[in-house]
Amino acid sequence: MCGIVGYIGTRRCIPVLMEGLKRLEYRGYDSAGIAWLEDDEISLVKAKGKLLALDRKLDGVRDTKSFVGLGHTRWATHGEPSEDNAHPHMDCKRQLVVVHNGIIENYYSLKKQLEKEGHNFLSDTDTEVLAHLIEKYLNGDILAAVKRALQDVEGAYALGVLWKGQPDTIVAARKQSPLVLGITEDEAFMASDIPALLPYTNNLIFIDDYEVAVLKKGDLLIYDLREDKIVDKTPQEIKWDASMAEKAGYKHFMLKEIYEQPQAILNTLRGRVLPEEGEVIFEESGITQDLIKKTKMVNLVACGTSWHAGLVAKYWIEKWVRIPVQVDLASEFRYRDLLVDDSWLTIPISQSGETADTLAGLRIAKDHGSTVISICNVVGSTITRESDGTIYTHAGPEIGVASTKAFTSQLAALYLLGLFMAKARGTLDQKAIKEKIDVMLEVPGLIEEELKAWHNRAKDLSCEFSQYPNFLYLGRGLHFPVALEGALKLKEISYIHAEGYAAGEMKHGPIALIDKNMPVVCLAPQDHVYEKLLSNIEEVRSRRGIVISLGEKGDEKLKKLSKELIEVPKVDDRDVNPFLYTIPLQLLAYEIAVQRGCDVDQPRNLAKSVTVE
Ligand code: F6R
Repeated sequence: MCGIVGYIGTRRCIPVLMEGLKRLEYRGYDSAGIAWLEDDEISLVKAKGKLLALDRKLDGVRDTKSFVGLGHTRWATHGEPSEDNAHPHMDCKRQLVVVHNGIIENYYSLKKQLEKEGHNFLSDTDTEVLAHLIEKYLNGDILAAVKRALQDVEGAYALGVLWKGQPDTIVAARKQSPLVLGITEDEAFMASDIPALLPYTNNLIFIDDYEVAVLKKGDLLIYDLREDKIVDKTPQEIKWDASMAEKAGYKHFMLKEIYEQPQAILNTLRGRVLPEEGEVIFEESGITQDLIKKTKMVNLVACGTSWHAGLVAKYWIEKWVRIPVQVDLASEFRYRDLLVDDSWLTIPISQSGETADTLAGLRIAKDHGSTVISICNVVGSTITRESDGTIYTHAGPEIGVASTKAFTSQLAALYLLGLFMAKARGTLDQKAIKEKIDVMLEVPGLIEEELKAWHNRAKDLSCEFSQYPNFLYLGRGLHFPVALEGALKLKEISYIHAEGYAAGEMKHGPIALIDKNMPVVCLAPQDHVYEKLLSNIEEVRSRRGIVISLGEKGDEKLKKLSKELIEVPKVDDRDVNPFLYTIPLQLLAYEIAVQRGCDVDQPRNLAKSVTVE
């Protein structure tokens, strides 16, 4: 996730672009840059770090008499955060600039081809490919060149292009990344999100996939890329204040991030699966078939929610790859007498890439000779720098302290890793892998369809249950770590005491706690341990515990046994259930915390990234 802005009009553009970027900084903040056109020359200023660093570099040029430009604030996906990798990017002749938010999936093959044709690349980004591709097709008309270049591109993009040959024009385009336009009498604006435009206009036009826009002073033309015809769009009036706008109208970042999960999961899968071939590809992650073939033990090391992702992956990898998997809390791993050696593959899992215990675990594993491939959301973070390779989750920045979209994106990366390993070791055939990829690709759509219903259900339940002091969460198999995650979400943001348990363990202790004041959240899909879970529910009921179940749509038996049922879609392959059962639990925790008046985005005593022991 990154933020882009563009302006053409009558004001000096640098302050307009900087104001826009400030309002988009929540979308990414590892580097930033702006470009503007003045006297037939394109100028470019970029800086690593937060916007402040860029702002400082603009001293002396802020008042430049330029009235057209583009800006970008970056959240790295390809290439570490650095000045070279910051946008905007230019072509070889420095005649055009591009800002981009999204992922160009086939950038690697495009880059190789363009290099053969003589293009010289200055960054490690996927975006720079766009600049060179547009240059390749440029023949006096920037709109035509952008349209032609986009025919070669696979992936997601919201982009802005400025060419010095047509200084009165910005071209913008969108596919699967957000883009909004604004228009006044003598200006036109583009941005990734509404807040950037609100100081100037409330009349906004939302660009759809496969649309290209031509922005001029006070003028806007939008084309449908596929049918090559002009699209007529009416501006919508947006009545948001600044803080609502930053959260895209959501009350909290956490809620926004819960709703972003279909996109975050999709972005993590993007460019990594070949469904027809039944294949997973991890270009540039350091993972190879040879490495997987020689691995004798998979060693997952993480903290908190990331540790829960590791626990889910253990079930997947052991089932599909038939290789032992150990999942360790990093704070325990680092102080144990370890058996690690060079036949182990260590996989630290971390959203931030800076968690002190996970980093220490990584270093110790390396000292013992283990290869280390991390799963991480932050490009260029310490964990990624010290690993032999990294599989990035592409969740975008997570601002809410409680992890939501980072967790499901970690699951998506681990799911793919499991299939990659199964292929390398020949433990699943091509047909089985293809089926697993197909069902995974359905997950973002399924979540999208259910989100509103789950949210409404969570709101109803929160009215009834927000004042209970204790909760128990039960699950078996893949749903046990999901129960742990559900309990962690509730306790950290609502301050209600909650425990996650493997349902079979209930008899060995926690059953003593159950009485009429104990809500018990039971994860009960109709899988191979369904009947066992139903027996656990009976045990809760007979002690007058309050059963809140999550189960498959149409499960009448479960409905009868439960005080409340949250319905989850039934899928052909229940291995993807952790994605579907986690999200209603996030929403339940969120709504209960809101009912209790808690500070959802910044719960007491917690920090987003725990860089000390
Ligand atoms: C819980 C949560 C934490 C983190 C943990 C590890 O919602 O966010 O438990 O999962 O602190 O952080 P990362 O993944 O950044 O290493």
